[in-house]
Amino acid sequence: MITGKYPNLRLRRTRKFSWSRKLVQENKLSSNDLIYPIFVIEGTNKKKPIRSMPGVYRYTIDQLGMIIDKVLKNKIPMIALFPSTPKSKKDKSGKEALNENNLVCRAIRFIKQRFKNNIGIMCDVALDPYTIHGHDGLLKDSYVLNDETIEILIKQSLLQAQMGCDVIAPSDMMDGRIGKIRKSLDKNAYQDVQILSYAVKYASNFYGPFRDAIGSKKSLKGDKKNYQMDFANCNEALREVELDIKEGADMVMVKPGMPYLDIIKNVKENFKIPVLAFQVSGEYSLIMNGIKSRLINEESILESLMCFKRAGASAIVSYFALDLAKKLKI
Ligand code: PBG
Repeated sequence: MITGKYPNLRLRRTRKFSWSRKLVQENKLSSNDLIYPIFVIEGTNKKKPIRSMPGVYRYTIDQLGMIIDKVLKNKIPMIALFPSTPKSKKDKSGKEALNENNLVCRAIRFIKQRFKNNIGIMCDVALDPYTIHGHDGLLKDSYVLNDETIEILIKQSLLQAQMGCDVIAPSDMMDGRIGKIRKSLDKNAYQDVQILSYAVKYASNFYGPFRDAIGSKKSLKGDKKNYQMDFANCNEALREVELDIKEGADMVMVKPGMPYLDIIKNVKENFKIPVLAFQVSGEYSLIMNGIKSRLINEESILESLMCFKRAGASAIVSYFALDLAKKLKI
């Protein structure tokens, strides 16, 4: 559908000046599109660096107020909490996930008491921060058991909702968990707690630095291919999304981000549901190290996030969220 031809038509005309480029810009990224992940550790008054993620830290709960003040000031609507559980509290079944005084539960209570509903809190539902083998569920002969794992995830979700979590985000990839979690939340009068399903989560090589951050990297036995998706597949992603919508998901996540833009677009075109993207730890570290070694400049951060808006994402989880929001000022 070309409406003219050279030389009358010159697409460079609207590109000539900055004011004109602003007028014809098709997509915009604002702080309101961002979700900021925060890693939490035990102790007090600590901010610990993560070796493989330059510029990202793990914070003790008493430090969260200070960070969330910044998050709010920069108009980011939601944070995602990830616990870095001490090894002494991990076991084969991940039972620390159900301890109402675990790191995540204490962090939710602290934040909700201080910030009420001025900030959204999203929490992962999966057992990997709590299992000694680093898998997202119960392991039997190297296989993650589906239905047995769901029984624990239902309890984990309910506990997080009771603590005040706003958005329950199952990232475990068990079949059928969304429906069961929704049912249990509703039965317990948490019908307004949202479910963001990590519906499309690939068995990706880009999660390495995250596993380092939550301390599951060294202990992870094998890979996650018997539950996370094969990165060669697209139709299967659509099936996953369709099932989760039917089971009651309010929003769906595609993860990782940049290598899966086609999937975000495909999901968005097929289902009129909010689709979120997760720019994962490996993507963050590659870009950050590229900037640090001057291979690329800092503007690449905005470019790496704008692509999600082009693809149709409603919001993006990114470790760059806070730094970028400070610059965007919108
Ligand atoms: C685990 C989980 C992972 C991430 C978020 N939740 C890693 C995994 O599946 O091993 C990755 C996030 C990132 O890499 O930034 N349930």
